[in-house]
Formats: sequence, C-alpha cells, structure tokens
Amino acid sequence: MSHYNFVKKCRICSSKNLELILDLGEQPPANSLLQKNQLEISEAKFPLRLFWCKDCFLVQLLDIVSKEDLFKHYFYMTSASKPIVQHFQKYAGDIFKEFLKEQKNPLIIEIGSNDGSLLKEFKKLGCSILGIEPASNLSNIANGSGISTMNDFFSSDIAKNIVQSKNASVIVANNVIGHIENLHDLMKGIKILIGEKGVFVFEVPYLIDLIKKLEFDTIYHEHLSYFSILPLLHLMKNFGLEIFNIQKQSVHGGTIRIFVSNKDIFKVNESVKKFIQLETDLQLNKIEIYKKFSLEVKELKFKILNLLNNLKENNKSLFGYGASAKGNVLLNYCNIDHTILDFIIDTTPIKQNKFTPGTHIPILSPEKINDKGDGDVALLLAWNYEEQILDKEHNFRSRGGNFLIPIPKPILK
Ligand code: TMP
Repeated sequence: MSHYNFVKKCRICSSKNLELILDLGEQPPANSLLQKNQLEISEAKFPLRLFWCKDCFLVQLLDIVSKEDLFKHYFYMTSASKPIVQHFQKYAGDIFKEFLKEQKNPLIIEIGSNDGSLLKEFKKLGCSILGIEPASNLSNIANGSGISTMNDFFSSDIAKNIVQSKNASVIVANNVIGHIENLHDLMKGIKILIGEKGVFVFEVPYLIDLIKKLEFDTIYHEHLSYFSILPLLHLMKNFGLEIFNIQKQSVHGGTIRIFVSNKDIFKVNESVKKFIQLETDLQLNKIEIYKKFSLEVKELKFKILNLLNNLKENNKSLFGYGASAKGNVLLNYCNIDHTILDFIIDTTPIKQNKFTPGTHIPILSPEKINDKGDGDVALLLAWNYEEQILDKEHNFRSRGGNFLIPIPKPILK
C-alpha cells in the first residue's frame, strides 16, 4: 500500500492561494504495471489534480504519493530510448564545449542519473562523474557499467558530504526537478555543490507545450511541478542564484534547458528576457489560460472516445502502441480499458507480459504487429516518438493499418 498525503501550500512560495485547474480523477500511479496474479486485487488509486499558485504561478500537484513508493524501483530506463540517447550525446558535447574544455578533470554530478546514459557521455569526454539515483535497479545497472552512482535521493545533506572532496563544475538534472517535492532543499544542495563558479543545468518539460499541445497525459503522480520560468525566477532568487540562459529542446513533447549559476558569474543571455516576455504575453500569470486548458482537455477526452467507439462499431480491432506512463494516464482518464484495446505493444522487456494499471490491458512484445500480425488501428500512447514509430511500422501501415494520434487533436494516420 502506497503512502499518500495532501499538502496545502505552494512548493515554491508557500502561498495557500491555490486554485484547482484540472481534475483527472482517482488514478493508480502511472508506472505501477501489474502482474497477472494482481489483477483481482484492488489497486491503490489517488487523486490526480492540477493546481495553480496565484502568487508565484507554479502549476503543481498537491496530492503526493510517497517518493519511496514511486522511485525506489523504476521502470523507465533512459538507454531504452534511442532518441534520448542521441539527445544526451549532443547534450554532453555542448556542455563540455561551453563550460568544461578549459578545466582539468572537471566533476560532473547528475541528479536522477537513471542508468548512467548521460554521464557515460561525459566520461568519454574525460570528465570525472558521479550519479545520484534513488532506484536501486537503475543504480546497479549504472555501477555495473562503470558509471559511479550513489543509490539515494539527492538532498542538501548528501551535497555536504560530496563537497568535502570536491565542488562540481556542472550539475545536471534532466526530467527530475519536477519529481522533487522539497525544491528548497534541492536548491540548498545545488548551492553547496557548485561553489562559487559551478553551473547547474537542468531540463524540464515546458508548461507552454503542455498547455498548447494539450499534453494532459504528462500529468501524473511522479510529476509534482510543471514549470514555466516565472516561478523558477522566484525560487532561484531565494538562493542568490540566477538563470543566465534558457534553450528550447524538442524532447519529451517540448522541453526547456535552463542554466543557473551564482549571480553575476555569467552574462545573462537575451533568451531569459524573451521567455519572460513570452510567458507574460501568454498570461501565464492569469487564471483564464488554465481554465481554457481544462475545458479543452475535457473535450479532447470525448473526441478520443468517439473516434475509438466509431472504429469499434466498424469492426476494427484496436490496440495500443507504447505502454508509457503517459499512456496509462490517458487510458485511465478516458476510461479506455481491455474491452476497447485488445493489447498494447512495447519494446521494453520488463513491461512485457504485465498489465496496465487501472485498465488491465495486456502488454505484449512488438511481434504482434509484424506483417501477419493482428490489429487494425494502433492508439499511439508514446506520441512523443511518433516520427520514429510510424517510420519503423511502415509494414503495418502499408497493409492498411492506421495509427490514431490522440493529442492535441485525435487523427488517424
Ligand atoms: P516514454 O515516453 O516514457 O519514453 O515511453 C515510451 C514507451 O514506448 C516505452 O515503454 C518504450 C515504448 N516504445 C516502443 O515500444 N517502441 C518504440 O519504437 C519506442 C520509441 C518506444
């Protein structure tokens, strides 16, 4: 049984001025795939609701499932995704060129280092590396492949221990800051580790992409914060830190890479002003945009369901493609279960022969849709890999199969 609590104040500014903007219902944790013998047992489900802080403008969950339950054993493995591995190769090269090439044996620390895919690239470039990763299955894999990794949640106490031997030249954290409940302790730890001149670089999915492309399925219990720049300015200021550059990246449905240092160490890039202007122009500091988003998500649910029901009435057999966490949110929110989708295919061996949480759809290996395989329409739950997947599955499409892309507007391809 998972532990759960509801917090009543904003994660960044502690304000109690919080507005509910979207309710996705009670859902099981999105990565809690089931074994066959668990199907009859009742599943733990928790409210999945999005709130907006009227004071610092952070969009966030306040329904918190304990981090031990979510992250001590983790299904998502970075190296399983080729596009992410390619992204990391370029990422390490860019950071090295910009900040490290003049330094002798710089130390790179990664928070939430997963299986060590990014640190491996820094190691190849001659850097010292240290990963911090709470999932024991992943830190074992990383250590086994020579990527030195501490199996723990990052905290300011851990930072104090590490800094006794060396400061970090660069700390990286990708797709993990949104998972951390105590952002103040995180920043305290960063501040300790970067010393005077180090840099903190992190990537987070961008709130504007979430809103504009209706990526409601990226909202799940693991993701506690949905960042824009405005609230981050507030957070950094508390620690005498400054955002000195922001770059847009295309991964994970639209991401921003943010560069942070102590104040006045680097020249502040024009991009920072541009992002602030963009967010002010879009009125992320007013409730209306969130109300519109919420309404559009509700409409999208019915559009997806209508299309699936029409296909079923026309005797099409339906299946899902990619048993991603976001897929599970979409399935649970739209009530799409094993009576609608016959199965879901996924390339990840540890997901195969398990069942989706809440909706109990069997997950199978991709052999199901080779030339002779069954299934007419594939609901693309891993829409972030649309290009690669449609390319890869040209046989399925050329024999008359279709993909249903669910967001931002359901279409058949
Ligand atoms: P992610 O968005 O969390 O990376 O999840 C995507 C899921 O889709 C992951 O379980 C792997 C799966 N997948 C496939 O099954 N085939 C593919 O070609 C790709 C790119 C992903």
